Amino acid sequence: MRSWSFLGVLALLLVNESSAFKAHDFKTCSQSGFCRRGRALSARAKEAKSSWVSPYSVDPSSVHISPNQAVFTAAVQSSLYPDIKFGLEVRIQDDGVARVRMDEVGGLRKRYDEAAAWALISEPVVSKDIKWTTGKKDTRAVYGDKKDIEVVVAHQPLRIPLLRNGKEQVVINGQGLLHMEHFRNKIEPATSTEEPAPEPEEGAEGSGESQTVLKVENPRAWFEGDTEDALFEETFSSWTDSKPKGPESLSLDINFPNHGTVYGIPQHATRLALPTTTGSDPAFTDPYRLYNSDVFEYLASSPVSLYGSIPLMHAHSTESTVAVFHVVASETWIDVSHSSEKSTETHWVSESGILDTFLLPGPTAEDVFKQYTRLTGTPVLPAHWSLGYHQCRWNYVSSDDVRTVQRRFDEDDMPVDVFWLDIEYSEDHKYFMWKDKTFPDPVEMTNDVAVNGRKMVVIVDPHLKRAQDYPAFKQASELGILVKPNSGQGEYEGWCWPGSSSWTDFFNPAAWDWWKSLFKTEETPGKWSWTKSTTDIHIWNDMNEPSVFNGPEITMPKDNIHYGGWEHRDIHNINGMLFSNLTYQAVAERTDPPTRPFVLTRAFYAGSQRFGAMWTGDNLGTWEHMAVGVKMVLANGLGGLSFAGSDVGGFFGNPEPEMLVRWYQVGAFAPFFRAHAHIDTKRREPFLLDEPYKGIVKDILRLRYTLLPVWYTAFRETTTTGMPILRPQFIMFPKDKAGFEIDDQYYIGSSGLLVKPVTEKDVREAKVYLAEDQVYYDYFTNVAHRGSAKGKEITVPAALDQLPLFIRGGSILATRERPRRASSLMKRDPFTLRVALDKSGSARGELYLDDGVSYDHIKGDFVWREFVAETKKGKKGLRLSSVDLGKAKPQEAVDGVALATYNPQNSFAESVLKDVRVEKVVVVGLSAKPASVKVEGSSEELVWEYTSGVASNEKKGGKASVLVIKDPKVLVRKDWAIVIQ
Ligand code: GLC
Repeated sequence: MRSWSFLGVLALLLVNESSAFKAHDFKTCSQSGFCRRGRALSARAKEAKSSWVSPYSVDPSSVHISPNQAVFTAAVQSSLYPDIKFGLEVRIQDDGVARVRMDEVGGLRKRYDEAAAWALISEPVVSKDIKWTTGKKDTRAVYGDKKDIEVVVAHQPLRIPLLRNGKEQVVINGQGLLHMEHFRNKIEPATSTEEPAPEPEEGAEGSGESQTVLKVENPRAWFEGDTEDALFEETFSSWTDSKPKGPESLSLDINFPNHGTVYGIPQHATRLALPTTTGSDPAFTDPYRLYNSDVFEYLASSPVSLYGSIPLMHAHSTESTVAVFHVVASETWIDVSHSSEKSTETHWVSESGILDTFLLPGPTAEDVFKQYTRLTGTPVLPAHWSLGYHQCRWNYVSSDDVRTVQRRFDEDDMPVDVFWLDIEYSEDHKYFMWKDKTFPDPVEMTNDVAVNGRKMVVIVDPHLKRAQDYPAFKQASELGILVKPNSGQGEYEGWCWPGSSSWTDFFNPAAWDWWKSLFKTEETPGKWSWTKSTTDIHIWNDMNEPSVFNGPEITMPKDNIHYGGWEHRDIHNINGMLFSNLTYQAVAERTDPPTRPFVLTRAFYAGSQRFGAMWTGDNLGTWEHMAVGVKMVLANGLGGLSFAGSDVGGFFGNPEPEMLVRWYQVGAFAPFFRAHAHIDTKRREPFLLDEPYKGIVKDILRLRYTLLPVWYTAFRETTTTGMPILRPQFIMFPKDKAGFEIDDQYYIGSSGLLVKPVTEKDVREAKVYLAEDQVYYDYFTNVAHRGSAKGKEITVPAALDQLPLFIRGGSILATRERPRRASSLMKRDPFTLRVALDKSGSARGELYLDDGVSYDHIKGDFVWREFVAETKKGKKGLRLSSVDLGKAKPQEAVDGVALATYNPQNSFAESVLKDVRVEKVVVVGLSAKPASVKVEGSSEELVWEYTSGVASNEKKGGKASVLVIKDPKVLVRKDWAIVIQ
């Protein structure tokens, strides 16, 4: 136990520090009123089989099409409640995405309808090119370049399928589980008599065989059940949720009749292809839950909700990929079932909010990411240094401790870019205020770290200690911007690290400028800000679910009140994103012009990719957690949030050296690479390891730095396309069914690197799946492996120092091979080009570079090259050329801004990159020893060396031939060609 204040100890007791996952801290579906009601509805439907019919229908006389034809609106009614009105709207966007919205009209209260306003970057543009036609039974729109997409709104019962080429891709309310609980007043038992259920509607038109009308005695009970289950109040453990608005949940089925595999809806610790939750697997008896939660020692395989929520689900088949984005901010549960191998049924139940669902028609994964990105934005291009290695621990205990750790890294020549400080830097956990005793010189400490261009990341949590000597709390209190308790009066008080705390309500615009002002490093008259900091300090936002140790399910009571009178239940899953969004802006705006901030967040929502990185929270130092971390990071990428990683080493526990080595191999191949450890763990910085482990980890760290250009280039691509940085098999080979479930190997961007981290103890061999008839070269040994069009598993050696890492034939990697202590020291280093020829003898690759810190790249200050190796038709030999992509692809963009302003002589190219050259070219898989190697246009023979071996077109595999060209004296920023004859 640490030597802590009483409050600290109490806080820790409250989070059950000493034992594993406490299932009873969190609700199961059966402990949550609205989830119970939703599942019961689905159970009744199942029992009723084909006689089940949705009571919701469109009033055909109300159908209205907007003058520009893109927007369909209609009145919807449930036959169970004839007096309650709903409005339905279907909009077709210019990229083919269909948006379905439904809300109660003229209800007793208003449902929360602002989730999209926080998640989307702007109001989507509706298409000008849609024609809706209304018939007796339905209204339909046919669109798309080939007029192959169709959205149908079937009137009675209400059912909305999206079809491509006549085949249903996504269907809303196909199973009749749509139920928007209308607002109602509580009828006190003393005065209430059972409201008689209305008779089924006389004469309701049922045209067509499938359109049955409810013909049961008590249709309300038949549909909703015959008990009022937790409508107006609910208790869980010792907490009571007052539910002042009564029931308002939303149940919705979304089916994919032609897609057998679904992915996404992070964050859960589970396989990438989502396991069914209605089958026999005892670990998956509950629906997937989305309710941002601080889950202590979470299970490594479970549908339990974790720190963040992205309600985006991809459905995939050999024919197409489609997705749904269900923009709701309240707690949501999702059942996944498969009635056949080829179809998926999902059932979404949310506690509050309107229905606002986007149907993303694909038809490829690339299209889906483009469509999703147009809605919620691309990830930002991170600061280059943030792709280096981050060293964290709870806690480096003093400024001298930080200096010592830095010195030890330097003594061992281990690269590192960032040192982190956890909560113990702060006086009584009052963030922005240093513990003077141990951190007497924070600015000097940061400057010491910054000497080599390194940075610090310091934690700022969202809870404010309720102390009058804490200006942040005092000011927030005076400004009236703190979250309120359910009375709507005063300040909500809960417990977190500092003891009694309150939380800023970031939904209140009055909080925004104030929060930003706290991060100013310079004194501003009349304002309190973090003057004891520097712009080399960046920020870690933790506990922003928010975590409240003494709150229900370790978070805020749902009936707390936010700006605008909304309850916490309405906005819970978005809350954490607002915090990191504001911090991101605050850090960017410390300087004028702004520089790229780094903000790490634990809680997230759809759109969080615009504000920085996330990590998978408090994992355990176990092999299981190491393995599931890989899948979680992949799943995050599918949710648009590629800049992700897991705590290297595991947050809890003391990993043995073998595990630590393997964890570094995992971490070095995640977009965000940080080692972190709980305060009770033994120190485990890599320099503390004994040999051979220390040397192996040092090599892994160096490998990460060697490959930084590959990572940065991959990040550029995702800022434009939204394609995930880590690409699982189904994205790379969408038609290869055997790859749909594979989630332990993946590709890095478009680089052609394929990695299969080893996540099991004592394993010294790995099986890698190659989905195509292509050659793959071992990154370290150049041994060629030939895949097969039918899919082939190869077995490769994986000793502790051997990471299974391959270059796909047809790729060119640009790397920087000189070992350095930090990434900023590499910015003028020369490049090595590694040309991995494909079976037909050609290859291509990209390299993107800019200053890595400013926003000047948006003005066109960058270098973006394409390298192409090919044999020209009718000619012999290989020509490797460098082409200016900035010039060739002006329609492309970085950070969402078109490159129209690009000029090859831009100031980055002409300064930092002026003399940067290619110092080595390695060509793997040539079929014969060349006779000559020259730069095109020059008669001078270059210095080269050839080792014979297997050629790229040979099927037999084995050590490939390698040509090494030394110092061809070509500049990275220029067009050139090398001719190998
Ligand atoms: C939370 C974070 C963890 C951090 C700790 C103390 O548990 O997830 O990373 O070290 O709080 O701030």
